[in-house]
Amino acid sequence: MFKKILVTAALIALPMSVAQASEDMPDGKKIYQNNCASCHGMDGTISKFGKDLKPFPARNHRAMAQVVSRSEMRRIITYGVRGTGMRAKKYDLKPLQIEAVIDYIKTFDYKPNLANGKKRFEQVCSSCHSMDGRATTGLGATNLVYSKLNLEDIVHTLRHGRSGTLMTANEHQLSNPDINDVAHYVLSLRYKANLGNGKKLYAKHCLSCHSSPSKIKLYGNAAGKMKLADLSDQMLDLRIRHGRHIHRAGKAVEKLSSDEILDLMAYVRKNR
Ligand code: HEC
Ligand code: HEC
Ligand code: HEC
Repeated sequence: MFKKILVTAALIALPMSVAQASEDMPDGKKIYQNNCASCHGMDGTISKFGKDLKPFPARNHRAMAQVVSRSEMRRIITYGVRGTGMRAKKYDLKPLQIEAVIDYIKTFDYKPNLANGKKRFEQVCSSCHSMDGRATTGLGATNLVYSKLNLEDIVHTLRHGRSGTLMTANEHQLSNPDINDVAHYVLSLRYKANLGNGKKLYAKHCLSCHSSPSKIKLYGNAAGKMKLADLSDQMLDLRIRHGRHIHRAGKAVEKLSSDEILDLMAYVRKNR
């Protein structure tokens, strides 16, 4: 009896919910064209009007769409950017309409220009991060060759900086295409470990004491509790090159370069 009522209720409810669903599905493209294109351009590259806005021009959505998180876009669209032409849209658009417009922006693509990224990097970033990204300037900048950040996080760091450090926000110094190009260039500087070299180095410097990477045991309070795989590259490097291990392993190990250590660690991790 009860079951019957439920089924009947479901049958009555069904056509209504279908109708509602199509009504609730806003057209992101239309919303974009009506509410955003006047400044951001029909195709996401800034309109003439948007370029002339003061104090800051509108921003290129094509170069941002794939490298800025949804949540950041949602925040900017909902609350706007104070003191700029980007007004809060929460009064004009419903939350679902904002999601639909983000979906539409997310269909924009952009082809990064690495040559421009390199040029900009050398102009704007190398004073702290060095020409090759290895940050040998002594200013406490991060060695970007060993950075673990993904593209979105590099872009986030570029746009907003790191408060309390020399790494300041660049979003008003650099256009979105520049930021996208520089971020891809930074990613291209990343060191790619050479497994073959790692194997050679292991045979030369480690094999005599550790017959296989899987036989390496951790010292001290990590012993028995942690595995090599639990250690970050930085911690593992410390334990190999800088800890008391050196007294056992010898000076040759201490003198391995950071690139060599990365090759070695890649080999050790693969064969642990
Ligand atoms: C009157 C012009 C104008 C309109 C209309 C407008 N924007 Fe903006 N928008 C701006 C400006 C100016 C900025 C740059 C703010 C800044 O300098 O941080 C901006 C920035 C943004 C950003 C951040 C981009 C970035 O790279 O930091 C997003 C996302 C955005 N707008 C989305 C929208 C959406 C979606 C709409 C339509 C619903 C819209 N905007 C309508 C002027 C406008
Ligand atoms: C005035 C010096 C300075 C300049 C110029 C500078 N940076 Fe930095 N950067 C830093 C410092 C210092 C840090 C470390 C911040 C911290 O401690 O979190 C850093 C951190 C970073 C990081 C985070 C890396 C990671 O793995 O956490 C990235 C990415 C980065 N910078 C990229 C750039 C790019 C690209 C430019 C040029 C657009 C640039 N920086 C310009 C000083 C600078
Ligand atoms: C002369 C011998 C010797 C050589 C060469 C040597 N090690 Fe070791 N290593 C040891 C001993 C002894 C320990 C202590 C744990 C054990 O008994 O396995 C150790 C421990 C370690 C640990 C754990 C360190 C800690 O702090 O927990 C790592 C990682 C390691 N070795 C890696 C290497 C790598 C990589 C190489 C080659 C670059 C190397 N070792 C070369 C003798 C050596």
